[in-house]
Amino acid sequence: MAPQISPSILSADFAKLADDVALISDAADWVHVDVMDNHFVPNLTIGLPVVEALLKHSALPLDCHLMIEDPDRWAPQYAEAGAGSVTIHAEAAKAPVRTLRTIRAAGARAGLGINPATPVEPYEDLLGEIDMLLLMTVEPGFGGQKFLDVVLPKVRRARKMIEGRDLWLQVDGGVSAETIERCAEAGADVFVAGNAVYGADDPAEAVRALRGKAQQ
Ligand code: DX5
Ligand code: ZN
Repeated sequence: MAPQISPSILSADFAKLADDVALISDAADWVHVDVMDNHFVPNLTIGLPVVEALLKHSALPLDCHLMIEDPDRWAPQYAEAGAGSVTIHAEAAKAPVRTLRTIRAAGARAGLGINPATPVEPYEDLLGEIDMLLLMTVEPGFGGQKFLDVVLPKVRRARKMIEGRDLWLQVDGGVSAETIERCAEAGADVFVAGNAVYGADDPAEAVRALRGKAQQ
């Protein structure tokens, strides 16, 4: 599938989120929204009310990445609010099948997120329940961290595992002009980039440059 670029607004200016989303809306495919609860990860960002507000101002689908302890309780509400995709973490969900089905029933794509040290193989039987597999390429919690090459073999294994399925393979963390080709070569087709987009002088141009490298 054609590569999708999903800029993470974690690296945008939280005081002017709508403006920063507009900056990339002609260049990007999705807008990645990092929801953190200070329990699943040691950082606190934004939650449902801000996502609801942003939905009114974004021309692009919101790609909500829930790094929270109790996704079974919260994920359905993001889908019902109108998120394009809702990703829950395998390490946090207690009833992933039910939650993933609820997300889909509400009309959003269902995503399953996997941390760097979590193997992907135990989740093979859940592939029919999801529209996207997210492999973290940093330990979740913060933007601007160094890309973890150690995850690349897992990206390759995941690509093989999902062969023949209509399923996105997303990488998130440390994705930049320097690392995106390695991710694409390993089989990823959705690229989250925070610092590489919003840390650039021209975020839209940075998105186009990333897309160009992902397509090579
Ligand atoms: C990290 C978040 C990422 C983060 C990526 O926990 O899930 O989405 O924003 O930021 P960069 O691209 O700067 O590593
Ligand atoms: Zn994320």
